[in-house]
Amino acid sequence: MSSTKARQIVLAARPQGKPRLTDFRLEETQTPTPGAGQVLLQVQYLSLDPYMRGRMDDRKSYATPTSLGAVMPGESVAKVVASQHPGYSEGDIVLAQTGWRTHALSDRADLRKLDPRVAPVTTGLGVLGMPGFTAYGGLRVIGKPRPGETVVVAAASGPVGSLVGQLARLAGARAVGVAGSPEKCAYVKDELQFDAAVDHKGADFAAKLAEACPNGVDVYYENVGGAVWQAVLPLLNNFARVPVSGLIAQYNAAGPGDGPDRLPATMRAILSKSLTVRGFINYEFAAEHYAAFLREVGAGIADARIRYREDFVDGLEKAPEAFISMLEGRHFGKLIVRLDGGSKP
Ligand SMILES: NC(=O)c1ccc[n+]([C@@H]2O[C@H](COP(=O)([O-])OP(=O)(O)OC[C@H]3O[C@@H](n4cnc5c(N)ncnc54)[C@H](OP(=O)(O)O)[C@@H]3O)[C@@H](O)[C@H]2O)c1
Repeated sequence: MSSTKARQIVLAARPQGKPRLTDFRLEETQTPTPGAGQVLLQVQYLSLDPYMRGRMDDRKSYATPTSLGAVMPGESVAKVVASQHPGYSEGDIVLAQTGWRTHALSDRADLRKLDPRVAPVTTGLGVLGMPGFTAYGGLRVIGKPRPGETVVVAAASGPVGSLVGQLARLAGARAVGVAGSPEKCAYVKDELQFDAAVDHKGADFAAKLAEACPNGVDVYYENVGGAVWQAVLPLLNNFARVPVSGLIAQYNAAGPGDGPDRLPATMRAILSKSLTVRGFINYEFAAEHYAAFLREVGAGIADARIRYREDFVDGLEKAPEAFISMLEGRHFGKLIVRLDGGSKP
């Protein structure tokens, strides 16, 4: 086993603005052998997520930046192929922080076993995993939608936004999704059953969004920032809640920002409308809410009240290109890289 080759993708250079393929490097290594208390994992499905862009910068943040030459961070669905750990056997399927690689050792207590009989294992990277929990926690703890209220969310066809809108509707609220193409908008409205979907790339986006929210906006679940935030700001009702989950429109910005300074208008709205604007990282809510999330969203998937979409790319070597495309919305659904060990669902 130790003579088999493994592959990994490391951070080769820090991006200046939009990442380029040369910022990543594919390397071949030996497959490691597990020591006492360790398991050897073979990655089947690697998750690509927007937060990874932040780790590529050497900037103070809630997480430590990835060092140059280090393996890109990431969560995956992996198979235990050798075990020296009493809690795991060969063949177990687990959720693990492996990074962008084909094989990894782990002695971590935070491996989560996945049962394919409960839900397809890839859902552990999306609707039933970190992105899904981000939607659930931000909406339940901060957004708190009430029946009849209007909830707006962008990146609405993705794993976070799609669940935000569906949970909002299950809570009796109106869900308005913002997405980046007519196809994504059709999916959000027709398949996910949002009340309305608006294309943020359309020339009259702000007017269309206002039309879709005749009673204003009570919860704006912030996934993107940028022009969408600017269009939502004047629509916010008094006492609106704004869970700030992500600002993907800004992740590739090299400088301080690419438009006129919106801070004065933003601060004025926060004060004059008594807004609640609260940033969060999903794991803040885990101790209190993770079990309920798995139960409720798992049940919603089982009886098809909750739907999700996955977008597969084949081969570890395709991860950099797929990641760069994702930051611009050129994927459709939860983006997952399928490695040799992963079968087609
Ligand atoms: N706080 C937390 O703990 C936490 C955890 C997970 C994720 N997040 C955040 O949640 C957000 C969504 O993540 P996800 O995993 O569900 O990603 P995703 O929806 O699969 O992908 C990101 C989407 O953002 C949209 N987008 C990109 N640039 C945009 C722009 N300039 N304006 C408007 N939309 C833009 C694109 O959708 P369209 O093609 O529809 O425009 C793209 O598909 C991200 O900001 C992420 O960082 C936060």
